Amino acid sequence: MSDTTVEFSPAAAALAEELLPAALEIIARYPEGRSRSALLPLLHLVQTEEGHVSPNGVAFCAEVLGINKAQVGAVATFYTMYKRRPTGEYLVSVCTNTLCNVLGGQEVYDELSEHLGVGHDETTADGRITLEHAECLAACDYAPVVTVNYDFAVDQATPETAIGLVDQLRNGERPAPTRGARLCSLKDMQLQLAGFADIRDGAVADGPAGAPTLRGVTLAQEHGVAVADFNPDTPITKTKPSPREENRGRVATVVDKVKGAVSSVTPGHAGKTTRAGDVKDPQTRTAEQRNPDASTPDKTGTADEKKPVPSNPAEAAGTASNQPAGDGKPAGDTARTEEAK
Ligand code: FES
Repeated sequence: MSDTTVEFSPAAAALAEELLPAALEIIARYPEGRSRSALLPLLHLVQTEEGHVSPNGVAFCAEVLGINKAQVGAVATFYTMYKRRPTGEYLVSVCTNTLCNVLGGQEVYDELSEHLGVGHDETTADGRITLEHAECLAACDYAPVVTVNYDFAVDQATPETAIGLVDQLRNGERPAPTRGARLCSLKDMQLQLAGFADIRDGAVADGPAGAPTLRGVTLAQEHGVAVADFNPDTPITKTKPSPREENRGRVATVVDKVKGAVSSVTPGHAGKTTRAGDVKDPQTRTAEQRNPDASTPDKTGTADEKKPVPSNPAEAAGTASNQPAGDGKPAGDTARTEEAK
């Protein structure tokens, strides 16, 4: 974990005052030396205050993690759930991906856009609604789908039902979603995404799967298609079950066959098999294959490479204690590389 006594730059100080205890709680969830993995929830935490990730939010994340702003920016600009400009109280996402599209998702989006007078990633003048078209929202069984702040809000949407929803939201109402958790503000949702429980009643969806989700099972039953021994009420296991006793021999035979096929068929690898017990990091193995006798120094991650220049003492202190490893990644990965040698 980064030094908790770090003095924040003026850019990060205001957020640090509000968010430092929660940020440290998030960072403490990660093993020593792996704190930069906390960046994703930290960016959500920043959005609980700002509603988006501003340059000040980037500075705060960089300084609390001891990484540089370029590294934070690379992540914050990669994922669409990190917003780069102020976002409305409700983020309304309309799926226009394949299945939703053929069932009318584009019409829903177009009419909503016209009704609100905003386009993709734009916010209404009253600051209530940000509209976006989204890729698959993982609810194709209910296509076309509209979510509000990432909660399912309108299933099998039509332009009318979607417009009805946003009108209620703009009037200050909290309409009941078709299914799922009750709607909250985008900033409330960011707290959940940062990994903190929302303790309000109805904040977490529960209940059995709906009819569209179970349609495949129902059809199979209607047509007498069944899988022997299948019990639909079997609880989902959290750990990988060991092979059943009667299958142990069969599994071993299949593994042997695959090994044989790989060693005899793979072009250029005839007779070569992967050594059992080879625990080298794949990057180390690749480097050895490229440069077997290490005669040419590997320049990756050396001083020859241009590094981003820290813009304040806190960031400089962080990067100084977070030297790049041989693979060009910051220090969190050094231990892994060393272990693999
Ligand atoms: S295509 Fe829209 S939810 Fe999957």
